[in-house]
Amino acid sequence: MGKWLSRIHRGNLFVGRRLLCSADGSQTKARTDEDGVAAAAIQILGKTYPRDAMTNVTPTIAELVGRNLHLAPHNPVNIIKQRVVHHIHKTYTNRTGNALYAHFDNVPPVVSTEQNFSSLLISPNHPARSKKDNYYINNEVMLRAHTSAHQRDFIQMGFDHFLVTGDVYRRDEIDRSHYPVFHQMEGVRLFTRDKLFENCSDKTVGLFEEEGSDMATESRDKQAMHTLEAVKMMELNLKETVVKLVKDLFGRETEYRWNPCYFPFTHPSFELEVKFKGEWMEMLGSGIMRQDILVNGGAHDKIGWAFGLGLDRLAMLLFDIPDIRLFWSKDARFITQFESVGIDPSTDVSFRPYSKYPPCYKDVSFWLPSQGDGEGFNGNDFCDVVRSVAGDLVERVEEKDRFCHPQTDRTSLCYHITYRSMDRTITNREINTLHNTIKALSAEKLGVEIR
Ligand code: DAH
Repeated sequence: MGKWLSRIHRGNLFVGRRLLCSADGSQTKARTDEDGVAAAAIQILGKTYPRDAMTNVTPTIAELVGRNLHLAPHNPVNIIKQRVVHHIHKTYTNRTGNALYAHFDNVPPVVSTEQNFSSLLISPNHPARSKKDNYYINNEVMLRAHTSAHQRDFIQMGFDHFLVTGDVYRRDEIDRSHYPVFHQMEGVRLFTRDKLFENCSDKTVGLFEEEGSDMATESRDKQAMHTLEAVKMMELNLKETVVKLVKDLFGRETEYRWNPCYFPFTHPSFELEVKFKGEWMEMLGSGIMRQDILVNGGAHDKIGWAFGLGLDRLAMLLFDIPDIRLFWSKDARFITQFESVGIDPSTDVSFRPYSKYPPCYKDVSFWLPSQGDGEGFNGNDFCDVVRSVAGDLVERVEEKDRFCHPQTDRTSLCYHITYRSMDRTITNREINTLHNTIKALSAEKLGVEIR
């Protein structure tokens, strides 16, 4: 299913991602309201946007915009954000003893596709832009898929050190660790030549290669214009910054490892894995920023590194939270458990499930609309239909079976849906109603034939 950027969050799109084409029936039809009037516009955060063929933000998703869990008192996502910011603020100060990094956590998630992709040098036909994986408001604006969308803009505003925290949106499968909205923190630091080499007695070493010199070519280690010395210094600084942070969050003894990886907006790029309860976990993507991003932000004489950190997964690990939907629960039995948790890890708690309500399982089978392998249908469209009907009562959607009829060449799919409420016992009757609505809506929106 949809794999966007680094695997900490969803799976690294930029490494060997399958290319699926999608003719997205569900979202391209103009929606009609109850009176049958075509709803030509969509409202998000009080603003109206025209719909077009790219629109695929569902009302369920639109309702989540503005919940801002990273700003909500006692929400574990907010607690983790505060811990990271506190660490960065106390560790890095400027000449006057003030915090070096600016922190922005109130930037609305509605961004242009230019910000989300082009500003990061993601090419016009790059699979990361797929409608299958992203929430488009229309052809020009979308719900940001990552906080990297703001890198260039803050550089342009003149910031050399900053953090951006926000809600990010990706279409994906449904299970305990995937939700269409999660939270990221972006970290960016730019250096001038003098700052980077302040402790270096060699005054001839610089950030940039002479144009035309033998070293001015891209290699595994560096971008063409950078000197190897500058890149290695940056790499050390980036890794030291991140490792200090990780040790502050998880403890001094934490085991970690760096893996090389690929992003269109950094080179070289590194992914960090941390060992938690015996298992390696991807935590963040990072790298030396592509120089064009700095140039476009007006910082051509500097060099930069950046990282992107997923907050929800971190919070789930640190507080033993078993299901990502819990962050969104409005049940007081969730949030009250975190009231006494502060910046200091000594205030940590382990989440106590307030009883586990029984699940209800249902299957749905259908024939895909087109002949052959069902090209034109994708699982994320189905997940959005399921979510729009059953919301957070869906715990998991699994593809259970797929086969192609030898005579008719039609493909049949079977999905196994786990329904469970976080807060109460659900009844078979109510789930039957929801499940039947899902079937009807799938037939209507996705053109499938229910079996
Ligand atoms: N934006 C990437 C993602 O969402 C994470 C990331 C990777 C951010 C590398 C960065 C970076 O700033 O340098 O998966």
